[in-house]
Parts: sequence; C-alpha cells; structure tokens
Amino acid sequence: MSLGLAFRVRIAPEFAAWREEARRLVREGIAPDEIELVDEEHDTALSLGFALSPAPNPARAIAQPAVPRPFLDLAEIVACHSDPGRWQLLYRVLWRLQSDRSLIRHELDDDVARMRRMDAQVRRDLHKMHAFLRFRMVTEHTGAEAGEQSREHYIAWYRPDHRILPLAVPFFAERFAVMRWTILTDHAAASWDPETRRVAWGPGVPRSQAPQEDELESMWRSYYGSIFNPARLNTRAMRSEMPVRYWTNLPELNILPQLLTTAESRVGTMIEQQNSLPTNTYVPETHTLPVLRAALPRCEGCDLYKPATQAVFGAGLAHAPIMLVGEQPGDAEDRAGTPFVGPAGKVLDQIIDELGSNRPAMYVTNAVKHFKFVERGKRRIHESPNLREIAACRPWLLAELDAVQPKVVVCLGASAAKSLLGAKFALMKDRGKVMESPYAQRVIATIHPSAVLRAEGDSKRVLYEFIKQDLALAEQVAIREAS
Ligand code: URA
Repeated sequence: MSLGLAFRVRIAPEFAAWREEARRLVREGIAPDEIELVDEEHDTALSLGFALSPAPNPARAIAQPAVPRPFLDLAEIVACHSDPGRWQLLYRVLWRLQSDRSLIRHELDDDVARMRRMDAQVRRDLHKMHAFLRFRMVTEHTGAEAGEQSREHYIAWYRPDHRILPLAVPFFAERFAVMRWTILTDHAAASWDPETRRVAWGPGVPRSQAPQEDELESMWRSYYGSIFNPARLNTRAMRSEMPVRYWTNLPELNILPQLLTTAESRVGTMIEQQNSLPTNTYVPETHTLPVLRAALPRCEGCDLYKPATQAVFGAGLAHAPIMLVGEQPGDAEDRAGTPFVGPAGKVLDQIIDELGSNRPAMYVTNAVKHFKFVERGKRRIHESPNLREIAACRPWLLAELDAVQPKVVVCLGASAAKSLLGAKFALMKDRGKVMESPYAQRVIATIHPSAVLRAEGDSKRVLYEFIKQDLALAEQVAIREAS
C-alpha cells in the first residue's frame, strides 16, 4: 500500500472523469512524471487530507490542449480497460501529444502500442459479451396490488473482463428493442424500457454476490427488481443490502437516453431476430474445437437436422488467422461431413491457389451446419436457410469464432454476412470492406463461390475477381494484425 505522499489524483472509473482531470492538469502545466493518476477503485493509499496536486507550472501550461480525434476515440475504449494503470498511460500520451500531434500514428511507440493492445482486449471482451450473454425470462408483476398486471422481463448477469457495459448497451438496445431487459454486471447494471426507449443505470452486483445461474431469478425478485421499478423502489432495502458506493447512481436519477443515439432502433429489425435471443442449449460452454465438434451431431436447434445426413463442422487450422464462413453445406459436404469439398469448394481452392495461399492454414466453416434442400426426383436441390435458421445456428458459429480467434473473418455470401453483420447487410454495396461486427473485430464479406458457378459470360470472371480481391485484402489485414 502506498502512503499517499506522492502527488496523486484519484480518478472515478469513467472516461469523462479522466478527461476533466487530464485537461486541468495539462492546462496547469503538470507533467506526467510529477503526478500519479490512480483509479479510485484500486486506490489503497491513505488519504492525508491535503492537496494532492503539485503547484501549476505556468511555463509549461497549455491553455487549449490538443486532443486529436484518433486519440480521443482510442482513449474512450482504453478507459474501459480494467488495468488500473490506464489513467496514467492516457495522461502520458495526452501530454506527449502536445508536442507531437502525430504520436498516435507511431505504432511502434511503447505507449501507443500498449493503448492498441488494450483497445483490442476491450473490443474482444465486447464481442464476447454480445455473443455469449444469455437472458432469462422472469414474469414480473406491476401496478397497484389490486389490479396487478404481469409482463415479461429478460434478465442477464454477465461478468466481462473490462468495464464494457456502456459500450455493450447500444447493441442490445438495438437488437432487443421491443423487449424489457436488464443486464447486471459486477460494476453496473443497465435496464432497457421498450416503452420509453431509455436506459436506466443502477449499481452492479459485486463479484462476491454474483448469482449462480439458477439464483438469478430470485435475486431479481428479491432485490434488483425493485431498483429498476420506480413504482416499487425500495431504498431501504437498497441501503441495507448494498454498500453505499454502489447506489450513488440511482437509476431514476441517472437516465441517459443520449447514450443510445447510435442505437436509434429500427423497430422493424427482424422480429425473428428479436425472438432469437442468441441461445442454443446444444452448444457447450467450453469453446474448444474438439468439444464443439463432439457436441454438434446432437444439435436439434432447428428442424434442418431432420432430413440432413449429418451436421458439418468447420475444418482447418485451430488458431488460423483467417476464418472463412460459407452459407451451409451443399450436397457433397452433407455426404462427406466436411465443408467446401464440392463444386463451390473447387472454385474456392482455385482462388486460394492463385493467391499463393494455403487453405489448410485457414479455418473454413459455415453459418448453418446442416444442408437445407428440396428433393426433385433423385436430386437434392439447395435451398437458402432463412433468418431463423441462421439465427438458431449462430451460437455454433460464435463458439467457433471464440475457439479459433481469427484475425479476420471472411463471409462468403449473404447468409454468412447476415449472421455476423445483421439482417440488413447488403452484399453488393458492402463487399470488400473491412467491417466491424458485434461479434468479431474485422469482417470482410465477399461473393459466394457458387455465384461464380451460376454466372455466365463476363460476369463469371468479374465475380471470380471480386472474391480474389477480397481474399487478398483479408490476407493483408491478417498479416498487418499479426505484426
Ligand atoms: N457452400 C457453402 O456455403 N458451404 C459449403 O460448405 C459448401 C457449399
């Protein structure tokens, strides 16, 4: 434990708190080696009760600190990292930016590289939360006792590695806009009201009180339900059960509609998607390829398993830098039990060969694991999976993503792209771009190789070249990310 003799400022664990303090320090000319910015939650120093900042240094003071946008964007993400040293790091970089505006582009600089690493860790944590948070439905009673009504409330408890709830909320507000839900984490809780389309913030559930899966409902009923239900707010229960520092931001005092400007919900967003809370009880919790592969044959998450010969799991390098995601197995794959071995697979192989790449060094899978077809005589004719089937299978794809952790994901065709980028994804408009999905940091969508087989004349060559260009881009991104 430090004795608190050094000059130090305590920062509440929020970006805005750091920003305010950092601007003040730069304006007063206080260099990072003169002061320690410590995270309030990790500060074990004894407070000595006197001013903890050195005297301003007018010779170095900067009235209008430069805060370049790229730094600000990065800093907002880094601020969510759990590393208590983040505030000092951010301040050092901000200070250095005053004499070198381009610092943030120097990827080899130790401070910048550390920020980039933290940024990647926070984003990865966010993708995992989007993919693996599970809601549980609770029937809630509202209104005066006499005329009580009931309504559904979806509750989830999730333990992220970093303080990412504010970053995660817009995704859930958009996807589950018509549902009433609450997400509890160890540092905060957010509750979405579909009628007002607002988020209310409340205290977290300390790790020591973390509920087991089957305790979540009773915890909600006995305590948290009242926090987010102003009609039933029981502040006495809050005071007695929760350390004061966890309830300073009572939800009804702290409604932040602005947070959701980016999530201005398209209510039309596929009701199918809304219903498809990303859950599939057949997917094991352990996300390693052998465990997932062993469990897949038992999946009955939708009806496609019935007529298919078998479920087709992904194939390739376990920690491949590039993951290719097709639509669903075709006739040949359904019989062979491995992806992309039929005619479309031959096109893919040829493109990969021409690029001088190596398919075994990639991981290849499908958005949907069973072959969907209609029988015409002896032939089985491919049918595209619908959004419900894609959604039912998505947990398998997300679990594979979690196991492989590729640097970049290439979606071959619209079904794979819709699975990772949403139902509104438009292939011809957005192919060939590096995009961020809620589930993966770098996603490139391209044409499905079977489109080359179906095309005629010049368009055959054009589509082929599109796929080739897009795979070449994926290689460049993977190499850049690995260096
Ligand atoms: N088409 C796909 O999308 N996947 C396969 O595995 C085969 C054909």
